[in-house]
Amino acid sequence: MSDLVIHTRQGDVGVITINNPPVNALSPGVPEGILDGIEKFGADDAVRAIVVIGGGRTFIAGADIKEFGKITSGQKRRGPGLQQVIAGLEASAKPTVAAIHGNALGGGLETSMGCHYRVALAAAKVGQPEVKLGITPGAQGTQRLPRLAGVAKALEMCAIGDPISAAEAQKLGIIDRVVEGAGYDDLLAGAVAFATDAAGGEGPPPRVSARNEKLGTPEENAPLFAAAGAMVAKKRRGYFAPLKNIEAVEAATVLPFDEGVKKEAELFRECLFSTQSKALIHAFFGERTVRKIPDVPKDTPTRNIASAAVIGAGTMGGGIAMSYANAGIPVVIKETDREALDRGMNVIRKNYERSVRRGRFTQEFVEQRLALITPRTSYDGFADADIVIEAVFEDMDLKKNIFGEIDAIAKPGAVLASNTSTLSIDEIASVTSRPEQVIGHHFFSPANVMRLLEIVRGEKTDKEVIAASMALARRLGKIGVLVGNCHGFVGNRMFGPYRREAQFLAEEGAKISTIDRVIYEFGAAMGPLAVGDLAGLDIGWRVRKGNPGLFPAGTRRPLAEDALVAAGRYGQKTGAGWYRYGADRSRSEDPEVEALLRKIAAEAGIAQRAISDDEIRDRIVYSLINEGARILEEGFALRSVDIDIIYLYGYGFPPYRGGPMFYADTIGPAKVLARVEEFHAVHGHWWRPAPLLKELAAAGKTFSEWDRARA
Ligand code: 3HC
Ligand code: NAI
Repeated sequence: MSDLVIHTRQGDVGVITINNPPVNALSPGVPEGILDGIEKFGADDAVRAIVVIGGGRTFIAGADIKEFGKITSGQKRRGPGLQQVIAGLEASAKPTVAAIHGNALGGGLETSMGCHYRVALAAAKVGQPEVKLGITPGAQGTQRLPRLAGVAKALEMCAIGDPISAAEAQKLGIIDRVVEGAGYDDLLAGAVAFATDAAGGEGPPPRVSARNEKLGTPEENAPLFAAAGAMVAKKRRGYFAPLKNIEAVEAATVLPFDEGVKKEAELFRECLFSTQSKALIHAFFGERTVRKIPDVPKDTPTRNIASAAVIGAGTMGGGIAMSYANAGIPVVIKETDREALDRGMNVIRKNYERSVRRGRFTQEFVEQRLALITPRTSYDGFADADIVIEAVFEDMDLKKNIFGEIDAIAKPGAVLASNTSTLSIDEIASVTSRPEQVIGHHFFSPANVMRLLEIVRGEKTDKEVIAASMALARRLGKIGVLVGNCHGFVGNRMFGPYRREAQFLAEEGAKISTIDRVIYEFGAAMGPLAVGDLAGLDIGWRVRKGNPGLFPAGTRRPLAEDALVAAGRYGQKTGAGWYRYGADRSRSEDPEVEALLRKIAAEAGIAQRAISDDEIRDRIVYSLINEGARILEEGFALRSVDIDIIYLYGYGFPPYRGGPMFYADTIGPAKVLARVEEFHAVHGHWWRPAPLLKELAAAGKTFSEWDRARA
């Protein structure tokens, strides 16, 4: 018997415990262990029923996702798989009962549906999240779930992938009983009692595969499939797997069980071998890899953050204070005067009210959160804070003044963070007596919603402060990514070339709406020019003005945007920017802008021409890749996957493309380089190929391989 699965007895109930921490994934050895248990208890006359339970904090969180790469690369040795386990559980003459705490996800829920019964703790969750990895369930989940939960719910659970609570699962018929109590022992006792009762029942135990009463008729189901298709088109535009999940559930309703299982297996393989699935799995592991910092190991001493103080109650300060309050951390927020403070607090209140209206939070939750936010016009309360976050205007002198003031007030050991989006953390830290405590916490707008937090390491930042920041990010529900201290850090540094190329293309004659359409079709929520209008064109203009070094003499600079700003066209907030905006913010193209672009091009000697969609896409997306490669070789990001996570969670890069560096891998660095060289030959300076891109292209390697070689 392997240590991964343990077989014990509780009276006349056999207990199969999966013991594969941290999440009891179905790694090699686990299916074998469960099968051994079924066989052993099946043959033991003293055993009348079987309970399957997860050791530690959860039931089974699914198949071992690491194994998928082995399958697609042809390395996988095929032993007994989950299909056999499920068949064994269902075929058992003795009742089998799944005892669920924590999560029963993917292959975990499928294992439980192979059992004759399912019991759970109230806090447990169940789901088929495979679609989030770009696949369908592969162990009959799409065939059994509609038989338990009905077609409509199965469609939603498989095509969207969000888990549901034990209470909802019970209502739907997925779970037979929610057991009393909250601990592991309560669950085990409840499951053993349930199994004992079941063993005393008449006739053979019920098999989910034989239940057809919830599968509906073609007439009843047709509108459900149409609705699911429409939902997926809206919520998952461009994704492949949600459609395949709908197809698999549909198979359950029209084919006999065994045929449906075959259909699911075909769809599963089709998805597993898709680039989208590889990209989404890359993102899954990437989200977890970014927590790993080679020189700040897991056991680095850290400090507890129990209270916070924010300076500035503007767009960012308000959102940051909400993030802390939402995590239950009391926060003081300071403004220069009462008027600015009231304005900031009003925005916070309005944001919360909107969340209540949309059903995201309850009124009670919001009142508790608001009670955690203390508005101030002085530094009262700052001396007690474990962390101080500065979110005043992007002005180095102002930030230095503020850090001088904080240094005098903050308690020893407090983390001193700046939310600057471009300025040097080292320069800010230099005015304090404790630069080792200073760090960048670059939130993204709206800070209470966006999941990315770039954590900017200064030259002197203490490892404990980094460890505390990474842990804090998780408490705030954010994904913290450690980056180095260069202009714009990682995200905004790459966003510069991305926006620059979009503007250059417009000057060269590409239609504004075409540029945005191409990037929208690539999978972004909005094109780069529409995004510029949303954020405000004056922001980029101010950055260019304040940093003349960004556009050295003799290099091409974005002329059109400067001209738009000079004409008072700042974007949505002034009703006009690249586009013209109606009262309802609807946008339309503006012949004035086209005329302006023609004039600029003529004056600057830029030949306007027809530009293909492919060139638009490659110029915009490859500019990200080339800059990303430079950032990597300069050491401002730890791994290429860190860049990917920044782009997925902070910049709306389409998740099914895995991030810009992974996208480069799917194209092939050599092909990307060839295109970059082509652009370099025509456009010069800004397209100098990054040395790392050249190195990888020459070696026939990918960015992911580069990451692995350095791990
Ligand atoms: N396979 C392999 N590793 C897994 C895993 C899985 N299914 N689920 C989690 N892990 C790993 C993580 O990579 C992480 O490893 P690390 O510590 O080395 O970085 C570790 O387990 C802990 O995971 P989390 O940090 O995510 O732990 P949390 O407690 O925050 O979350 C969870 C737990 C909700 C279970 C979350 O891990 C999760 O969502 N896991 C994936 C669930 C899933 O997608 N299941 C379906 C898999 S596909 C499938 O089952 C196919 C089937 O139909 C045949
Ligand atoms: P904002 O203009 O909305 O807010 C700044 C606030 O700071 C103002 O309310 C101002 O009154 C206040 N302030 C100025 N001096 C102060 C002082 N001495 N004490 C207390 N309050 C003071 O600016 P925003 O957008 O919130 O930006 C703040 C910082 O966040 C900047 O460094 C910016 O670069 C950065 N940032 C902005 C993002 C955005 O999308 N707006 C995104 C990420 C970072």
